[in-house]
Amino acid sequence: MAEPWWQGCVLYHVYVRSFFDSDGDGQGDLPGVEAKLDYIKSLGVDGIWLSPIHPSPNRDWGYDVADFEGVQADYGTMEDFQHLLDGAHAKGLRIILDEVLSHTSDEHAWFVESLTGGKDGPKADWYVWADPSKDGTAPNNWLSVFGGPAWAYQPARRQHYHHKFLRQQPKLNWRNHGAREAALSVLDNWLAKGVDGFRLDVAGTFLHDGALSDNPPVPSAERTRDDWAHAGNLQRHLFDSNLPENVETLEAIRKRVEAHGERFVFGEFSEEEARCGAYLSPTEGLHSAYTFVLLLARTLTPKFIKDHCETLSAYPAHWPTISFSNHDVPRTVSRFGGENPSPDLAKMMFALLLSLRGTTLIYQGEELGLPQASLTRDQLRDPVGDLYWPYSGGRDGARTPMPWAPGPTLGFTDGTPWLPATSEHEHLTVAAQEDDPGSNLAFAREMVALRKGSPAMTLGGLEFLDVAEPVLAFVRRQDDEAIACLFNLSAEPRFADIPELEGSILLEVRAGDAELRGGSIGLSAYAAVFLRL
Ligand code: GLC
Repeated sequence: MAEPWWQGCVLYHVYVRSFFDSDGDGQGDLPGVEAKLDYIKSLGVDGIWLSPIHPSPNRDWGYDVADFEGVQADYGTMEDFQHLLDGAHAKGLRIILDEVLSHTSDEHAWFVESLTGGKDGPKADWYVWADPSKDGTAPNNWLSVFGGPAWAYQPARRQHYHHKFLRQQPKLNWRNHGAREAALSVLDNWLAKGVDGFRLDVAGTFLHDGALSDNPPVPSAERTRDDWAHAGNLQRHLFDSNLPENVETLEAIRKRVEAHGERFVFGEFSEEEARCGAYLSPTEGLHSAYTFVLLLARTLTPKFIKDHCETLSAYPAHWPTISFSNHDVPRTVSRFGGENPSPDLAKMMFALLLSLRGTTLIYQGEELGLPQASLTRDQLRDPVGDLYWPYSGGRDGARTPMPWAPGPTLGFTDGTPWLPATSEHEHLTVAAQEDDPGSNLAFAREMVALRKGSPAMTLGGLEFLDVAEPVLAFVRRQDDEAIACLFNLSAEPRFADIPELEGSILLEVRAGDAELRGGSIGLSAYAAVFLRL
């Protein structure tokens, strides 16, 4: 039986508000995505993951949904969406929606009714409500990811409701049958319109502990400076998320999606969930998942990559999703290369992204080698930037407009962009790279083509080769095809002895220089090379 289409496919993550503005209001929109379909197609990818498109008061920029059935007015209309979907399908591109079903906006009609409809009302338990503790404080010690208690008091009910993120993002109660069915029908409705699948936001958090047990603290010896700033990290989230039975809920979601044919549903999980293994089991759960392990890494060593792959291999039936960059974390080249990243680093990271076993997520601009944008306090729009300044500028540095062409807004809009188009990206626009065979963009296209043209790179197993650090070497193998993937993770040229390479052929796709002599290979700084064994 042929493998499902999503195994080994390459998805391009479009952060809609910052991709391309078609109507001059300064915000990217769905017709803007449609206008750039040829560009996306030219990368060689299989489909697009669209960041949330539903109406939202934008406290957390679309991750607080006020109506799961509609389209955010800034982004266009339902007709615009249907047009984009049809246009993408006509070009052979799949469309994956980002569904945020663990919580809603506090402006969602479900929440308003839960709050005001009385404790016996039909939606009274659609959210996680609890009485105050005896001393009048929050019902338990749960902390919100964005800081402070994960509870908000509502005089109208004389109760607190649980919110894992902002207080404007009340947690939906997946233990309640009505709420659960309503959330599942959201998926049915969009699948009926023809979407190809979903990315599920914070998929480890659907279920909470019904007894509302306190979370245990992280022992002080294990706390980092970072944990103190992001106080939510001071406890282990064992009772507000990561419950073993969460996997059953994910399983039910997957079955619901599969009832519509060959669709794909993958989830976002935290590092802690990766440690608990709560997001996957050998046979159950979603089709695939990614965690923040690769997204948060700041130093790149062969050991780190091996450890990550080994964690995943504990779940042999699980198909991974690989992601180094998205709208929540600093862009890859800045994370690993600091303020003056070497130009070769971007290519090497892109090559590594496409070489690891899994379904691959490319974040818009990653193919251009964009660094993180630096923004001033008054330019920030992300609530996390607001909360954590000056310790952290939040997530906006990864969310600035896609640089298309020279000009004051880098070709993103005729109006005033919602986040500034940064001069740091001026020399990396699509127009500047389009006709340059040595550009990041040209390399990205070659790299995706290598991946798509090779069953071993798409679906094959991954075996590490024994080689001295800082060189990372592994073989992707499927049937008769075997491709060795070599990466010099350092800024210095390196020489590696790898007897398995004897007699192999260097592939044309490579970043940096490589010289092969028998079973020895010389690699320039940040080289990524591929050999056919
Ligand atoms: C996910 C999203 C992030 C959002 C959070 C709360 O992690 O990627 O942007 O803030 O969920 O919905």
